[in-house]
Amino acid sequence: MAGIEDNPVLRPGERQGGVGLRLAIYPGTFDPPTRGHLDILLRAGKLFDKLIVAVAENPLKSSFFSAKERLNLLKGLTEGMDNVDVEILKGLLANYAQRKGAIAIVRGLRAISDFEYEFQMALTNRRLNPQVETVFLMPSENYTFLSSTLVKNIAELGGELSAFVPPLVAESIKRKLRRK
Ligand code: COA
Repeated sequence: MAGIEDNPVLRPGERQGGVGLRLAIYPGTFDPPTRGHLDILLRAGKLFDKLIVAVAENPLKSSFFSAKERLNLLKGLTEGMDNVDVEILKGLLANYAQRKGAIAIVRGLRAISDFEYEFQMALTNRRLNPQVETVFLMPSENYTFLSSTLVKNIAELGGELSAFVPPLVAESIKRKLRRK
């Protein structure tokens, strides 16, 4: 069985990503981005030299906001965060991470119920791209119950959104619902 010394990723004493920027990707659907996503994003921004928020464009899944709208929302939310970029993610995350030279994929873990799905995704991504580690961060306990679906449900039923999403997102949701 191969040991640590045979695995270039795990060789001791070597800093992953060399001496260059330590770049991480925070991927998600963000439909819409919530205060919980923002919480993870802020934590990740402090850990890495550069963070790319990658907005997944899934043509098979119908979304409330288009990928372009989600991109613009996240750009608005991260304005002034100098080490954070927002891009649209097309295709495989593992390939995208490789193209960008990322050393990590950041995911939020809200509760045990997230674990199985995240574990499966992390190991699949590791198989596809052994150079990238998945790093899990926990959001503030205030947001462990939160999901984008909940936010959309509350909005459709006319509920108050300010505890769940930043004002920019709340306004965009309301505007979109008025046009429906
Ligand atoms: N705060 C609030 N909500 C959170 C959250 C947080 N910190 N973290 C996750 N969530 C919620 C989201 O709101 C979302 O809720 P919803 O199901 O009600 O919409 C849910 O958790 C999952 O959302 P998200 O974190 O956006 O992940 P995702 O499962 O939608 O995204 C991708 C998965 C995009 C990372 C994955 O599909 C991917 O990598 N796609 C690219 C193609 C690919 O490489 N596929 C193979 C993957 S192994």
